[in-house]
Amino acid sequence: MSAPAGPLLTVRDLHREFGGVRAVNGASFEVPGGGITGLIGPNGAGKSTVLNVIAGSIKPTSGEIAYREQDITALPPYKLARRGIIRTFQLSSEFAQLTVLENLLVAAPGQRGETLWQAALGKRYWRAQERAVVQRARELLTRFDMTAKEDEYAGNLSGGQKRLLELMRGLMAEPALLLLDEPMAGVNPSLARRIEQHLLDLCGEGLTMLMIEHELAVVERLCDPVIVMAQGRVIAQGSMADVRTDREVLDAYLIG
Ligand SMILES: Nc1ncnc2c1ncn2[C@@H]1O[C@H](COP(=O)(O)OP(=O)(O)OP(=O)(O)O)[C@@H](O)[C@H]1O
Ligand SMILES: [Mg+2]
Repeated sequence: MSAPAGPLLTVRDLHREFGGVRAVNGASFEVPGGGITGLIGPNGAGKSTVLNVIAGSIKPTSGEIAYREQDITALPPYKLARRGIIRTFQLSSEFAQLTVLENLLVAAPGQRGETLWQAALGKRYWRAQERAVVQRARELLTRFDMTAKEDEYAGNLSGGQKRLLELMRGLMAEPALLLLDEPMAGVNPSLARRIEQHLLDLCGEGLTMLMIEHELAVVERLCDPVIVMAQGRVIAQGSMADVRTDREVLDAYLIG
């Protein structure tokens, strides 16, 4: 598929209120294809809400989201997944009582609620499909150096290993656009650097990412452009070098 000329994702005048709280209050920005766009801002700025609205897990009060120039506003997550849009959570979302491998298998698209359909297609077809999914899971385990944990219950993993599992679960669907909410939160520095390298590698393979991240040094190394939010609005965007000297950005970080 040839790359679209315009941005991969366009967010236009997005609003989302919770009761009286204006969590997102007129946010507009674009995510170009083929890089890691950073989404930063002080606590409560509305970053996760924006990501949740893009990911279809909460509906906007108003505003539009376009992907490859097609309207995707408020599509449910499974429909977004079919188009290649996948998100990971700020808090890991693994199934504690499934093994690591099982967690990956159920994260593959079309692995649940399709038993009848699979029966209709015949065992041979779905076994082949299942084999492909297991193979994809094992490739990811190798890539993330987690093969030894394949049969471990996800609930027994360390915090850092859960973050890796969360990332692998997102990658099972072979996304074109991955939405990451603080993928390195609470992870020790050496694992954080490893995750950084994984994200750069994935970027090199053509995956586009929109990433919320608190650590500005990480954002500086990985992200271009950077979108800065405060109090539900986008207050600056550009390279990290540009936004870090922006007066409004400095004020937002100081005042919170
Ligand atoms: N489900 C909800 N119900 C009520 N208020 C909410 C809800 N989700 C978010 N908010 C409020 O909306 C505002 C934005 O929250 P959001 O989680 O989007 O911020 P954030 O930028 O991701 O912050 P953080 O950096 O702390 O993760 C906050 O004031 C928050 O308390
Ligand atoms: Mg958040």
